[in-house]
Amino acid sequence: MSDIVTLRSVVWQDNGADADASLRIIDQRKLPAALEYRDLRNADDVVDAIQTLSIRGANSIGAAGAFGYAFAVRDGLSSAEAFDKVSNARPTAVTLRHGVQRAADAFAAEGDWHAAVAAGERIIEEDIDECRRIGEVGAAELADAPRILTHCNTGILATAGIGTAIGVIYTKQALGQEVHVYSTETRPLRQGLRLTAWELAKNGIDVTALVDGAAPAALHNGLIDAVIVGADRIAANGDTANKIGTYSLAVAAHENHVPFYIAAPLSAVDASARSEQDIPIELRGGAEVLDAPGVDQNLPTWNPAFDVTPSYLITGIITPVGVLRAPYEESIKNALQQVQDE
Ligand code: MRU
Repeated sequence: MSDIVTLRSVVWQDNGADADASLRIIDQRKLPAALEYRDLRNADDVVDAIQTLSIRGANSIGAAGAFGYAFAVRDGLSSAEAFDKVSNARPTAVTLRHGVQRAADAFAAEGDWHAAVAAGERIIEEDIDECRRIGEVGAAELADAPRILTHCNTGILATAGIGTAIGVIYTKQALGQEVHVYSTETRPLRQGLRLTAWELAKNGIDVTALVDGAAPAALHNGLIDAVIVGADRIAANGDTANKIGTYSLAVAAHENHVPFYIAAPLSAVDASARSEQDIPIELRGGAEVLDAPGVDQNLPTWNPAFDVTPSYLITGIITPVGVLRAPYEESIKNALQQVQDE
């Protein structure tokens, strides 16, 4: 693979003294026009970066959340204050909450903010390994599916490793499998066009860009062998929240008999959410929707950042421990148990 695999979306920098430590992220708002880094130096910086999508993607914000918590307790917040401040930065990705919780548990055990930092570093290491395993499981499952449609960005930028859905694509390429990606634009913030098309092209993967509204026609016209997307939160029954527009892809895939996969680590599972009813969906401001010259900026908007795909539309959930299939209550519970036993 090219130089891009050396890019890291989130890197801890010790810098010698507690007060000088920083979390270096790629500023994803600037891509693809400019590859710029941003050094986050306290919890406010981390929360701002997460809320403005300077850092984004469920796995990346899970790792960033752990370091945000570490900064907060270093700077005198109580554990509960630090937990609330950082874990509430965005509501839908349960990975954020899980990342902050791991940092809080480490801090509680050792009473030292460095323990929370170490938890963040472990999250990064595990994510790298889990993305690699998701890639292997997914490439085996989709060995005979060269034409893949994906949505949003789930790659190097959205994780600490090679990605989840996009990790499957990189692994297919690395194994010499034929692969051509259809990348949806992903309105309103264009993660598919700005980030996915950029990182795939940089890595020598053939990519065709299409607007979100064209995806059902691509499926209907027989252009796609499989759809793979990521996850922000998977309920105990398999209902899955992901970037807005995922649900319509799943419906169109089902209608056209094209397999539809989620690829995610088990940290995306929220076992306390029984079904879609228990998944909070982030509503964002209207400016993102009204982003076109001359448009009345006072138009009412409805701008959910995510939607939920009911599990009956999902062919399989590609995880580091294998492909989970219906009935999901059972396969998810078994996978969580397997990991706990390891
Ligand atoms: O709003 P974003 O860009 O953070 O949304 C990201 C997604 O929906 C991804 O598909 C999901 O977080 C999985 S990333 C491995």
